[in-house]
This record gives sequence, C-alpha cells and structure tokens, in this order.
Amino acid sequence: MDPPLRFVLCGSVDDGKSTLIGRILHDCGQVFRDQMEGVAEDSRRYGTQGDATDLALLMDGLQDEREQGITIDVAYRGFETARRRFIVADAPGHEQYTRNMATGASTAQLGVVLADVRKGVLPQTARHTRIAAMFGVRHIVLAVNKMDLVRWDRDAFESIASAYRVLAAEIGIAQVAAIPVCALTGENLTRPSERTQWYAGPTLLAHLETVQVEPRTAGQPFRIPVQYVNRPNADFRGYCGRVVSGAVKPGDRVRISPAGTPATVESIVAWQGTRERAKRGDSLTLTLQPEVDVTRGDVIEAADRPLEVADQFQARILWMGDEPLTVGRQYRLKLHTREVGATVTRIRHRIDVSDSSQLAAPHLYLNDLGIVNLATSRPVPFAPFDECAALGGFMLIDRATNATVGAGTLTFALMRAANLEWHDFDVDGEVRAELKRQRPRCLWLTGLSASGKSTIANLLERHLVTEGRHTYLLDGDNVRHGLNRDLGFTEADRVENIRRVAEVARLMVDAGLIVIVSFISPFQSERDFARSLFEPDDFMEIFVDASVEACAARDPKGLYAKAKRGEIRNFTGIDSPYERPERPDVHLNTEKLSPEECVEVVMRRLA
Ligand code: ADX
Repeated sequence: MDPPLRFVLCGSVDDGKSTLIGRILHDCGQVFRDQMEGVAEDSRRYGTQGDATDLALLMDGLQDEREQGITIDVAYRGFETARRRFIVADAPGHEQYTRNMATGASTAQLGVVLADVRKGVLPQTARHTRIAAMFGVRHIVLAVNKMDLVRWDRDAFESIASAYRVLAAEIGIAQVAAIPVCALTGENLTRPSERTQWYAGPTLLAHLETVQVEPRTAGQPFRIPVQYVNRPNADFRGYCGRVVSGAVKPGDRVRISPAGTPATVESIVAWQGTRERAKRGDSLTLTLQPEVDVTRGDVIEAADRPLEVADQFQARILWMGDEPLTVGRQYRLKLHTREVGATVTRIRHRIDVSDSSQLAAPHLYLNDLGIVNLATSRPVPFAPFDECAALGGFMLIDRATNATVGAGTLTFALMRAANLEWHDFDVDGEVRAELKRQRPRCLWLTGLSASGKSTIANLLERHLVTEGRHTYLLDGDNVRHGLNRDLGFTEADRVENIRRVAEVARLMVDAGLIVIVSFISPFQSERDFARSLFEPDDFMEIFVDASVEACAARDPKGLYAKAKRGEIRNFTGIDSPYERPERPDVHLNTEKLSPEECVEVVMRRLA
C-alpha cells in the first residue's frame, strides 16, 4: 500500500481550520458514532454553531484549547478515502504557538493554507507559508474559505488567490492550487459547489487524493542514521534505525560516517524476519561484516556516495525560546540521531515574514526567523535540508532547562571540517602533567562582584605554590584588560567572555597547570559549557556565595554604589542577573567562613 500523504493545515486564528478538517473527516465517514455523540455534547458546551454540532470540536482534542477557544498544539489525525490515506497535522493559528506550526510542517509533504475570503492574506498567513516552506513543504493548497459569506464572489476569490501566488513565488513555492470553499457546508471541499460555475478545478479532497508529491530524496543513495546499537549477546551486533534515502541489500558496500570505516552489509533484519532488500522509510536492523565500530548518531551510507561532514554551517532557524537567541551561547543540537554541542557564531540577518526583507539583528526573539552561522562542537555527517530533510533538519535545546529553543535547517557547510584537523602531537597533556608531577585541573570560582573570589583565588594559589604546584590564575578584571578588552557587560559579551576564558583554561590545563579561574560567570549555561571542555574530574565549580546585600556593603571598588546611582549599567546583582550554581562541587559561604577557611575546604576537596 502506498504511504499516506502527510499534510499540514495552517492559517490564521478563526479562518476555520478545525471546521474544515472536521467536515472532511465527517464526510469521509471517519467519525464514529460515539465520537459524534461526544461532539454533539461538547457543541452545546463549547461550540460556536449554536445548537448545531460544531465539527471543529472533532479536531480540537485538548480540553485546554476548547476552553480558550483556540488550537494550542499539533493534533495529528489519520483518515482515508477509497483512493488514498492521509495524515493531517492541525497546526495552531495563534502567533505564540508558531513552534507547533513548525513541528507540523516538518513532517508534511503538502500544506493546506486557509484564508478567510473577507480578510485575505494576513501576516499570519505569510508567516505560516514561510515556515512551511522552510521546513520543506513545496506544494500548497490555498483554501479560500467562507465563500458563502461573499455570495461566492469570483473577484473576491481571484484577488486573494493572485496575492497569495505572488507571495508563494517569492518564497520559492512553485505549486499553488487555489480552491474556493465553504468548510461549514463542505462545498468544494468534499463535494462540488453548484455556486461556482466559474471554478473548473477539483474539490479540495479530490485534489489531495490525486496530487503527486515526489519525495525529495528520490534518486539519492542509501543512508541510515543509527538510532541504537543492539547487542543482546556476544554473538549478535545490529544497528537499528530508519532508512532515510535509497535502498540496501545484503552484500552492499557501505561506510560508517563520520569515521569513514568501510564494511559490507551482512543481513537485514526487520520485524517480520530477515529481508533481501530494504528501502527509504523502512525501520530495520543491519548487521555488518566485519564488525566495525558504530555508535548512535553515526550514519551507515552507500560506500560510493559519502555524506559531507562538517562543523560550521549556514542555517535557517526559527527561534522558539522565551529567552532570545544569544550569539556565542552553548546549546545542544539534535541532528537526525546525533546530539552535539552547538553555538550560533553569528546572526547574519532576521527575515521579516511579511515581505521577506533582511534585517540586521543582534538577537532573535520568540517566533523570529533568521539566517545564522552555526558551529558544532564536533564534526557531524549531514545533508543540506533541501536534499534530505531527515539529515538536515535540527533542533536546538537549552542546556539548563532542556527546552527546545530553536528549530532549523542546515543550508550548507561553511568550511569543510575535513580541511581542519585535530593534530595529535607526541608530547601531550599526560607527558606535561607528569613532568610537573601534578594532576592538572581547572578550579572555577563563580560569584558576585565582591563575594570574595579574588581574595580566595589569591590565597588558594599561594597555598598550591607553597606545595610546589604549578599554577596560573585567570582573573576577570585582568583578562578584561587584554584578551577580552573588546567585551563589555551585555549578556552576549559575558557569554563570549566566559567562552574565551574557558578555552584558555583548557589550553592551560593541557599545558599541565592547575588553573584557577575567578570570573563572575553569572550564567549556568556558560559554566556548564566550561565544564564540558574538561574530563569530569578535572573541573571543579566553586560557588563563592555572599548575598547581594553583603557584597554591596563590602563594595571595595565602589561599584555597587555607582550601579545603584545608575552610573554603571548591567551590574550583576543590581540590574543584571546572577544564576546561582545548581550543583556546585564546592559551596563557600563567605559571610560565614573566613578566606583561610574557604581555602582549607577547597584544599581538602583537592586532596
Ligand atoms: S563576567 O560576568 O563576564 O564573568 P567578569 O568576572 O569578567 O564578569 O568581570 C567582573 C568585573 O568587572 C567585576 O569584578 C568588576 O570589577 C568589573 N565590572 C565593571 N562593570 C561591571 C558590571 N556591569 N557588572 C559586573 N562587573 C563589572
């Protein structure tokens, strides 16, 4: 059986999306009696159609949204006619829920965009079309709804259809079918309307039943990102995943990306047993000969058509975080089955959704669309999204909250990672550490200005040196005079400040030193990033804790007084946040402990 046509339904609030899909389901006989009774009951409570059954309630699955009267999450629904099966994603129309729209679009082959004939092409219509296009939708059906309210006026329909075609062409959508409909009655939706003699095209449902949507991966080589390695016992090792393009049979030559290891397919195990062939869309387990090293996130690919591997990209991104996107901040990136650290190194521009213009932007805010440069912590195998959605679509996750803050598509690699290698030299960190007869580490002191970081750092270094250790002290004020003199105290500058000092500390630890870092480092994500650069036991987050009041009372440099008078802006603890460490390795309360006592605590931990 052919796979179902997946489409996403989008439009502005109140354009009638839920009614439209409810009507289609109903007229296709996909609504069961008990469901109808439930809806009839709900219609009386929440419906917008008086005592008549409100078909919109069939789709609006969530209690919450019924009560708000808007759709707030993506509802997927399968249905079928005699000619085709379908899966529809009902994407919410409310601006703040654009993220769900992106989710719905990312798996869709076609978009049905609804417009109210009385309102025309709204900014939200343009936004949704742009997001649908960004996430790979190339076929659009424009359903011009509520035609009954303008007495099926041809001119009203034509003017919206042509305005929309202009927009679609600009976005790069070649295929637009415009259909005048009335979702409430089902005219031109599931049955032809008698009132549109001037319209010669099919009904919306007939169009969906017959439209041809070629997968973009047609003609592409075999590729399967590895979801997990299955090792039930010592005799069996299989690699599980879903084929994203091409086909495979036992005996095929493959290679493992990014390592490039060659192998041959030994067998294909699917859930019905072994198979002689598998193709795009199949979920399976492969066994290889010889048993090479493969881990989750690797891609098994046709040997003669390797994927590109890179760590610098240009990407399109839809920002979905409540906090704005900050250049330099470390996020986690999920690309097919792989997860790596990632940072946006530059926002090239923001895209104005209403007219496609490019605007300079230091940040991207919730629902903004932008073009960015992206760097990953390690090289990843990928394909440009326009070639293969499964290997080029990614999510960005906030390290601290685990929330999805961005969804995007890789456009191309900026620099081939293969051109930039990591050299392993003969004299390495281990040799240097041995020479110095010490275990190199990074002792990271974080805390408010005047909390006592510098005093403790100074004493700590003296102690270590007395014991014959080789050390270096990196201090915020000092580093800001040199390496970081181009940075101020905005959030983005502080993120970059910490990124640089963390990288410097890493080099110094590799050089064999015990490095004491004394920076306010107010954000958990950057402290987590710093930690991620070191072996687990080589990094110690030391929270130098004193209340803002205590620090302001100490105020050795008079900065708190200035900040309170408004003479310094973005001062930590006054008008710029300090995120207390969630799980510091050492917690020093400097209102209770003397500097000597604090150092003793740290020394004991080090021993
Ligand atoms: S961080 O937030 O980016 O980690 P860092 O530790 O480098 O800060 O620098 C903090 C030092 O800069 C403070 O000790 C203080 O002397 C000085 N300073 C000047 N302006 C500010 C400000 N707005 N906020 C915090 N510190 C400031």
